[in-house]
Amino acid sequence: MTEISPKQRKPDPCSFVIFGATGDLAHRLVIPALYNLAAADLLPDKFCVVGIARKGMSNDALRDSLMKGLREFATRPVDDAIAQRLLECVTCIAADPRDPASFDRMRKQLEELEAKRVTGGNRLFYLATPPDAFAPIARELGRTGLLKQDTSAWRRLVVEKPFGTDLASAKALNSELLKIVDEHQIYRIDHYLGKETVQNILVLRFANGMFEPIWNRNHIDHVQITVDEKLGVGHRGSFYDATGALRDMVPNHLFQLLSLVAMEPPIRFDAHSVRSEKADVLAAIQTQSEAEALHNSVRGRYEGGKIGDTKIEDYRKTEDVKPDSTTETYAALKLTIDNWRWASVPFYLRTGKALGIKRTEVAIKFKQAPFAMFRDTPVDRLSQNYLVISIEPTEGITLQFNTKVPGPTISIDGVEMKFRYKDYFKAEPSTGYETLIYDCMIGDNILFQRADSVEAGWQAVQPFLDAWKKAGAKGLERYKAGSEGPDGAEELLKRDGRSWRELG
Ligand code: BG6
Repeated sequence: MTEISPKQRKPDPCSFVIFGATGDLAHRLVIPALYNLAAADLLPDKFCVVGIARKGMSNDALRDSLMKGLREFATRPVDDAIAQRLLECVTCIAADPRDPASFDRMRKQLEELEAKRVTGGNRLFYLATPPDAFAPIARELGRTGLLKQDTSAWRRLVVEKPFGTDLASAKALNSELLKIVDEHQIYRIDHYLGKETVQNILVLRFANGMFEPIWNRNHIDHVQITVDEKLGVGHRGSFYDATGALRDMVPNHLFQLLSLVAMEPPIRFDAHSVRSEKADVLAAIQTQSEAEALHNSVRGRYEGGKIGDTKIEDYRKTEDVKPDSTTETYAALKLTIDNWRWASVPFYLRTGKALGIKRTEVAIKFKQAPFAMFRDTPVDRLSQNYLVISIEPTEGITLQFNTKVPGPTISIDGVEMKFRYKDYFKAEPSTGYETLIYDCMIGDNILFQRADSVEAGWQAVQPFLDAWKKAGAKGLERYKAGSEGPDGAEELLKRDGRSWRELG
């Protein structure tokens, strides 16, 4: 994890090869992030961007299309001179893993380009493609020797999400990739780790001495992780219907939040130590039986409704969604972590689409004061002590506690101490990919998922996937678009004598 500041070192010369260069991700995030790095003077002095398109196109056509994307998705006003300099580095090369000869040709073209641009042979291959292309592309890169690292040049492979669709497929993909490259050459992206507030969880916990002594089962009652979205499924019907809320969000994004909140302090702030602690805590999530998984989860599907003035159509009527679909658009889970720090502390996770509010947060609920010292305010009427790490829409940290209301009697009320990033720091708006891409180029993989973490994440959600698949429509609740989600989500906590923090 590297702070990007103008004082930072520039990455080594390299070529940045994007598979899926004509696609949405390249236009929406990768090129705008490269533009922001260029604007901060953080691209290598010797650099080239190679856009791989299956059918190939002229350099000018690809540059025009990327420029159009940049104008649409840039996070700040586009300076034409910087954009031109970046796009002049772009070359389009045709390659399709179904046609091995095209990779041999690509290798030759790439080597010629690298010699011309004096990039020293350092290469980063960015797989911004649909997931079924990850393994075939990596195989061809392996066969042609393009990923072979030697002492004079580094070779890296960046893999987007989703990494597998269940435990077995994630294992198969890991094993396939690890036949071609070493683990340290692989950068598995989870864009949540590009978010400032997510990175800040580590700093909050380990750069402050006051939290660690109370960060455990003795003082923490439970943890809530919420990623509620307003957006429906939109044009992603075919992907989403085969995926669902659990696969789409939990083993990756929500587990990143969970692992940062629950990991042990790493002995050093380096990739090996941090990633090992994260992997350990994910591996300590109790694997539930299918019956337990059903008992400890809620799933729902949205029906038509309104969010503000926007009408949202019923999920099953979405383009490319099966009319008899049993895919969930909302998931809530109760998990426990089997280690000394967290034994018997529930972690409640919830995420859904088409909800009334967009909110991403981690709320740590501390235990109540043990008895009612104040005559007129019984303990259960005291306000709850939450430490809330807010990620969206506001970035910040809030502490809720009780205080005396001024006056002659002891009357108690809950108040909040709030830190908001924007009150303290001025940051250029970014795509969230700048740090990730910069870190790939300088070879820092602290913010990327290691194979064991990915597999531990799938291992923990696999019983839910299996149980839900068997249950089909049974137990799949419905909720109105624009609501707070299915009623069962409230019940999940209520039966433990708890409730979700109000998001309003
Ligand atoms: C993506 C999911 O990985 O994350 C989307 O595929 C989801 O379905 C998105 O909307 C959420 O990301 P963010 O940064 O908006 O919380």
